[in-house]
Amino acid sequence: MATHIEIQPIEKSKIDTVDFNNLPFGSVFSDHMLECDFINGAWQTPVIKAYSPISLDPSSKIFHYGQSIFEGMKAYKDTDHNTLLFRPLENFKRLNKSAERLMIPEIPEGIFMDGLQKLLEIDNQWIPTNEGSSLYIRPFMFASGNGFHASPADAYKFVICTAPSGAYFAGKVTVLIEEKYARAANGGVGFAKAGGNYAAQFYPTQLAIEKGYNQVIWTDDHSHQYIEEAGAMNIFIRINDTLITSPTSDRILDGITRKSIIQLSKDLNIDMEVRKITVSEVVAAAQAGTLLEMFGAGTAAVISPIAGFGYQNSDYELPEVKDSYASLLKKTITDLQTNKTEDPYGWRVQL
Ligand code: PLP
Ligand code: COI
Repeated sequence: MATHIEIQPIEKSKIDTVDFNNLPFGSVFSDHMLECDFINGAWQTPVIKAYSPISLDPSSKIFHYGQSIFEGMKAYKDTDHNTLLFRPLENFKRLNKSAERLMIPEIPEGIFMDGLQKLLEIDNQWIPTNEGSSLYIRPFMFASGNGFHASPADAYKFVICTAPSGAYFAGKVTVLIEEKYARAANGGVGFAKAGGNYAAQFYPTQLAIEKGYNQVIWTDDHSHQYIEEAGAMNIFIRINDTLITSPTSDRILDGITRKSIIQLSKDLNIDMEVRKITVSEVVAAAQAGTLLEMFGAGTAAVISPIAGFGYQNSDYELPEVKDSYASLLKKTITDLQTNKTEDPYGWRVQL
C-alpha cells in the first residue's frame, strides 16, 4: 500500500529564476521538500511542502551531540523525458545502516521511496536535461528532540531536499596523501554517512588546500600506510593495466558508485583488484612510471580524475593517458544511468 503523503503545494514556482545552463553543485534548490517527524516513538505522515527553513529548539540534540546522517543520490532524465534513479534501494539501506550506528530510528522503506517518488513527480521540471547535469537528491535525518542530557534524542526529522546540479569538481583534482590526520578509526563511524565525518575532514582538507591541493587522500588512522578514500569519494588506482581499490571496512564508506564500478570494470575485462594498497606501492609506481591513473568515484563527483598527488614534500604528476579507464568507466556508468545502454543488473529505476 502506498504511503499516505500530505501535499502542501507552493503557490508560485521559482524555476524561472534558475539558469539551467550554468548550474552550480548543490546550492540552488527545487520548489519543494519532504519532511517527516518521528515523535512519540513513531514516524508521522510525511509532508511535501515549500523548500523552507526548519525551526528547532536551541537544545535540539543535533546542535550538541551531532546525531545527523545523510545520503546522496541523483535523478536523471532520458531522451524520452522519463525520470530515472540509480540503485535507490542501496541508498535507503545505507541510510538505515547509518541510522543504526548513530542511534537514529530507521526510516520505513515506504516513507523513503514513496516520498521520494512523489517529491520527484511534483518537482519534475527541476530535473535537468542537459548532459553532465542532474537533480542531486539529499535525504537526511537528524535529532530534533531537546535536552542537554548526552543521550539519544526522543524526536527526529527525516527530510529530502533536491538541487539541480552541475559538476562537483571543475576539471582534474590534485590530492595530498594524509600522514597525520584521519577521518575514521576502527570501531568508529567512518562507514556511516554521518555529518560529523565530514566536519572532521574540513580542517585537514583546508591545510591541504593551503598547500595547493584540492583534496586529501585518507590513509588508515593507525599507520597512515594504506590508501583508503579520496575526500568524499572512494579511490581507484591504476598500476599498469590493473585497477585497484581498497576493500571496505569500518573506516570506509561502502560507495554505490564504487561497487558499480567494480562490476562494470569486470564486464569491460579490466583487471580489477579489491585489495589493500599501500602508499609506498603507489609512490614506487609513480617513480617507475607504472602509475597510470588515479580517480575518485562517488555520486556527487561521478568519476573524478586525479592529476597528481603530494606525499612527504614531493609532488608526483600522473601522465595523460589515452583511452583512460576513468573516461571509459565514466561513460559506461553515465550511459547506464541515463538509459543510453542496456541495464543487465536492474540498477536503473524508472519512476
Ligand atoms: N566516500 C565518502 C566519504 C563519501 O562521502 C561518498 C559519497 O557519497 C563516497 C565515498 C561515494 O559513495 P557513493 O558512490 O555511494 O555516492
Ligand atoms: C555524494 O557523493 O553524494 C556525497 O554525499 C558527497 C558529498 C559530501 C558532496
